[in-house]
Formats: sequence, C-alpha cells, structure tokens
Amino acid sequence: MLQHPLFQRRKSVDMLPSTDELVEGTEPPAPQLRRVLTVRDLTALGIAAIVGAGIFSTIGNAAADGGPAVSLLFVFTAVACGFSALCYAEFASSVPISGSAYTYAYVSFGELLAWIIGWDLLLEYAIGNIAVAISWSDYFTAFLRGLNIHLPAYLTMDFFSAFRGYEAVQRGGEATTPLLQEAAAAWSTAPQLGSLRLIVDLPALVIVALITAVVYIGVRESKTINNVMVGIKVLVVLAVILIGAFYVHPANWNPFDPEGFGGVMKGVSAVFFAYIGFDALSTTAEEARNPRRDLPRAIIYSLIICTILYVLITLVLTGMVSYKSLRVGDPLAFVFQRVGLHWIGGIVAFTALIAMASVLLVFQMGQPRIWMNMSRDGLLPPAFSRIHPRFQTPSFATVVTGFVVAIPALFMNLTEVTDLTSIGTLFAFVLVCGGLLVQQQGQPAEPLPADGRFRVPYVNGKYWVPVLLAVMLIGSFVLSPESWTITALRHEDEWPFLLFLGVAIWVAVLAYRLNLSLIPVLGLLSCLYLMSELGATNWIRFLIWLVLGLVVYFTYSRSHSKLKE
Ligand code: ALA
Repeated sequence: MLQHPLFQRRKSVDMLPSTDELVEGTEPPAPQLRRVLTVRDLTALGIAAIVGAGIFSTIGNAAADGGPAVSLLFVFTAVACGFSALCYAEFASSVPISGSAYTYAYVSFGELLAWIIGWDLLLEYAIGNIAVAISWSDYFTAFLRGLNIHLPAYLTMDFFSAFRGYEAVQRGGEATTPLLQEAAAAWSTAPQLGSLRLIVDLPALVIVALITAVVYIGVRESKTINNVMVGIKVLVVLAVILIGAFYVHPANWNPFDPEGFGGVMKGVSAVFFAYIGFDALSTTAEEARNPRRDLPRAIIYSLIICTILYVLITLVLTGMVSYKSLRVGDPLAFVFQRVGLHWIGGIVAFTALIAMASVLLVFQMGQPRIWMNMSRDGLLPPAFSRIHPRFQTPSFATVVTGFVVAIPALFMNLTEVTDLTSIGTLFAFVLVCGGLLVQQQGQPAEPLPADGRFRVPYVNGKYWVPVLLAVMLIGSFVLSPESWTITALRHEDEWPFLLFLGVAIWVAVLAYRLNLSLIPVLGLLSCLYLMSELGATNWIRFLIWLVLGLVVYFTYSRSHSKLKE
C-alpha cells in the first residue's frame, strides 16, 4: 500500500535541518542539543510529563465507575504504553532531530501519514490541555473554598455539567451528591441573556491565558526546576498514600470489582489519559548521554514508578471512602476532607495546582512546535513558523494554541475532552508501532548500531502473536461468555471491538508469514484494543476529526507542501 503515489512524498534524513542550522537560523527555538541527560534526569522528565490531571482528577471518575479493580486497569494500560514507548524510543533515536512522531512519520512513511499523525497529535496536546485546564479549575475552586472564598458556581464549570446537574436534581433520587447540587446551583443562579445562561469555566480560561503568556515570552526548561517539581509532586502523592493508608477501611474494597469488567473498562480513557506524556520523553533522544541504554530504561522506570503510584492511589482512594462517592473533580483532596483532615486536603489541592500547571506548560509548548514543523514543511500557512524576533518563540502558533485551548476550556466537559484526547493519542501510538513494523520490512536484522542508537529488542512474533491472541480470545470467552452472543456483538458499542478483532487476526497472520517483531505488534494490538473500548460515539467523533484533517490536507497542505513536484 505504501507504494501508492499518495504515500510517495517522503523526506529523507538529509533534508532535516542539522543541529547547527537550528542554532544559527532564525526559525526554531533552538535547543542546545548537548548530551547531558542521565537516566535519572530522563526518568524525572518522564514523570514530570506524566503526573498531572490524570492522577489528581480523572482517576476519580474511573474509580467511581469501576471500583477498586480499576487498579488492575492501570497495570494493563502501563504495559500497553510500555510497548509503544519502546517503539517511540527507536524512532526518536534513529531520526537525528528532536521531533515528535510527526517528524519520524515524514521520514519513514511519507507526507500523508505524517499529516495524519500531526493532525492527530492536536488531540493529544491541545485537546489534552483543555482537560488539564478543566481539572486545574476544579482544584482551584476547591482550594479557594478551603480559604472561604466562594466563586459563583456558574463561573466554575461548563454549561452541560450544570444542565445535567440541574436535570438530576429535578429528577431527585441520584441528586444527592454535592457535585450535582453545585451544578444545579450553577444552572439556577446563572445570569441569563434571553434564553441563554452564562455558565463558563473561568479559572480554566485564566490559567491557559497565563501559561500561554509564559510560553510566548519563552521559558527555558530547566533541569533543576524540573527535578524539584517532580520531587514535590511525587512526595505529595506518596504522602497521600502513606497518610491515607491509615484511613483505609478494607470493607470498602469488598467487592473488589462491584461493577464487573464493563465498569472497569469504562475507565479506559481516564486511566490512559493519566499515562499520556511519556512519549514526550522520546524527543530527548539527542540530549541523552547514552540514549540506547538510558532512554528505554528511563521510559520503563518512569512508567513503573507512575504505575506503582497510580495503583496505590487507587487502592487508597477506594479504601478510604466508598468508590461511589469519588465522582468529583478533586478526588485526592476530597477524600481527606471527607475524613476531616482539611489541612492535608488543602496541601494536596495546592500541589495539584502546581503539578497540573507544569503539565499544561509542557503541552502548551509542544503544540506550537509541532505546528511550526508542519508549517516549515509547507503543510500549514507560513505564519505558524514565524519566530518572534525578541523572544525567539513561535509566536503566532503559540497564540493560536492559546485560543484553541482556552476557548473550548470555557465550555467543554471533562469526560468528553478526556475521551477525545485518549482515542487520538492511542491512535498515534498505533501508527507509531505499525510504522516501525512497516519500516522493518525488507531490512535484514541488522546488528545493533554502535553509535548509541536505540533498537527495540527483536523477538520473533511468528508463533507468539497467534498464540497470545488465541489465549486472549479464549480467556475472554470463558470469563464473559455473555459478551460473545450475537445480540451483544451487534450492539453499536461493540463495532470498534469487531474492528479490533479483524485487525488482530490480520496482524497475527502477517506475524506468522513475515516474522514480525513481537514488541511493536503487542504495542499496536494493545493500544488498538484500548481504543476499541472507547465506544461508538467517541469513534465517530474521532473519525470526523480525521476526515476534517484529510479535507484540510487535500485542499491546502498537499498543494503547498515543500515536497510538491
Ligand atoms: N498524563 C497527563 C496528565 O495526567 C496528561 O495530566
């Protein structure tokens, strides 16, 4: 398929700017690519990008849906992320420029797939940041409340949350949670313009505006500040675990999976969201002292550390209070308030604000730089690669990112945004793993490069892939035969699963015929499986997003590309 003319526009490695050009030219915000990062720095960087809204916020909804068993979903998701992370690491160290998956794709698979990945990464970076901003706002509002400062409820949430809360209160019954009552209050007290109610998440807008201003002026990511920030984040999370452990009532863990497999899998997007960010680590390949050794280690270490923290936090949260009460935006602070430790709740809320602001910063810097690369290639208008003469930052792209994140943050709902981010990022992982498999075709198994580049260890998947797939299918059939009935499979939410099944069988056949490398195959299939659990509505939104991207590509980007004949 990649022989088709549509896939023929491909950059060669020689066409990428060299490090010197990057430093001297006026174009990019030139990083000094010196090999200074040790495995410890890299691990800290990974944790910095990973720990944010996921653990401080979206974990609440996941636990409320699935109960204590969500801790196991954290383990499975970490394994899926680990496989993809290794593929990212190989790309990152084989393409000699710090770039994103977009740059790797341009070299490896050509312009069209690179465009799709670049367009898709918007979901991870910009849309993901909307989710982080909304979570930041939840903690900020709770923090102010702790100081006895009460913002009007209609200025602290999105329109639909308020509407749903109001409806729930009207219906009675389930309307007992404080969150729903607050949402209903927002609806009832909001100023009205005709029939329209003014309900917006103002703190989310303000934090994005502030971060955008900082990014516009230009920040140098400092290794020291980063390490200190990570230290504080990890310390507070550990403190939550250790202090919370004294307030755990094991009775809350029984039953362990109160909502069954379906309840646990409802948390897929929230749980996956909590791991997003480690892929940013792969972009430091050129700055690592010994990338072949240290990069995969740091990726694995940061994933293992975060997995341990996430599993323990889930167990502590669901042990301290009933899982049902965790449907709040600030679960880590909430549980301490519930057990009367208000001051600890306050410290946790304050740290969460800093932790999430640092995640916002990383992604708010990342998005304009991806656009800048796409613009330099001609795929976006030249303004996106304009560099501010004084601040040396991609000024236009930064401002556009600010608007793209801040305006929807006023109105959008956390769950919807998280779902969209997770499905988009999972798709990018699927493409990266698939891309590595395609790239390896026709290449003899070369000896490991001597220059420190990283290679995913090759394990022949010829038998492993079909056997593992068969084990998974038989296991799933034995554990939940009801989900394999024709009626169940015809439910629209199962369509993505059927798609997964088709692709998995096809990949198993290819693995057998072509001796595919096991790790990228497992990365591809596990991420596709997680995608398949995200439901038909998310798939439809995601497909609309991709189609929109293709329309932009064929109406503008293809004819403006620097590689056009
Ligand atoms: N993993 C990042 C967070 O949880 C995106 O905020």
